[in-house]
Amino acid sequence: MAAQILDGKAMAQAIQQELAEQTAEYIQNTATVPTLAAVLAGDDPASDVYVRNKRKDCERVGMESVLHRLPAETSEDDLLALIAKLNKDQAVHGILVQLPLPKGIREQRILQAISPNKDVDAFHPENVGRLVQGRPRFVPCTPYGVQQLLIRCGIETAGKHAVVIGRSDIVGKPMAILLSARGAGGDATVTICHSRTADLAAHTRQADILVVAAGRPKMVTADMVKPGAVVVDVGIHRTEQGLVGDVDFDSVREVAGYITPVPGGVGPLTRAMLLLNTLTAARESLA
Ligand code: GUN
Repeated sequence: MAAQILDGKAMAQAIQQELAEQTAEYIQNTATVPTLAAVLAGDDPASDVYVRNKRKDCERVGMESVLHRLPAETSEDDLLALIAKLNKDQAVHGILVQLPLPKGIREQRILQAISPNKDVDAFHPENVGRLVQGRPRFVPCTPYGVQQLLIRCGIETAGKHAVVIGRSDIVGKPMAILLSARGAGGDATVTICHSRTADLAAHTRQADILVVAAGRPKMVTADMVKPGAVVVDVGIHRTEQGLVGDVDFDSVREVAGYITPVPGGVGPLTRAMLLLNTLTAARESLA
């Protein structure tokens, strides 16, 4: 029997609806509008689309977004000056610096400059540390979206074996932390696999829950998946056959119990979690 599709798009719409209501209430109570400042440096076309969509989402739920566009030849100091200004601006609750940054700009230096209280991507070392210690201020958007998908679809994670392919700071590492943390959507036993893992398929075939954030089109094939497993595809690639994920959807859906599509799986949930973090930042700014 083919896998059940985990419809991230529909779930993201439901979450946006909840956030729209909570945002309206926040505005009514505080007379301020939760505001996201988006910083887009350079002219990466994919980043352009991502930022445009994030801003549209803000508008849809009644939040404000302000775009700061900088040329590709922006210096590190210019970018740091802008971040310092946004950190101080009380009308700005969340700051998002879209990655990747233009060549020559040290990403770590920029991300560390964002106030941890406005760091809605949760990339600042303080927020990473808090997440690791199980007392997050913000949760990184993509792993947060995956965890919400599992929770809201009623997929049990406690005691399960979760395998994460990918060890990036944005997805793989925080995903493993969340799945192994105490509580809902956690309590799993987690294996992290990566480009240097020997016999990847031997690991993935053990997975009750397989989260793929490898950055390689269709790399997970049916023979790598345990029958009935939950397969979550974080990848997205523009190919001649259209958008595809890191999972070979057509073959894996015949083996898996549940699977996320690309597009319409994890992507929309990532965006919904950014809105949730922005509302959290606005609420915390009053505390
Ligand atoms: N580029 C790719 N993914 C992300 C993300 O989650 N946040 C930011 N700021 N940039 C990205």
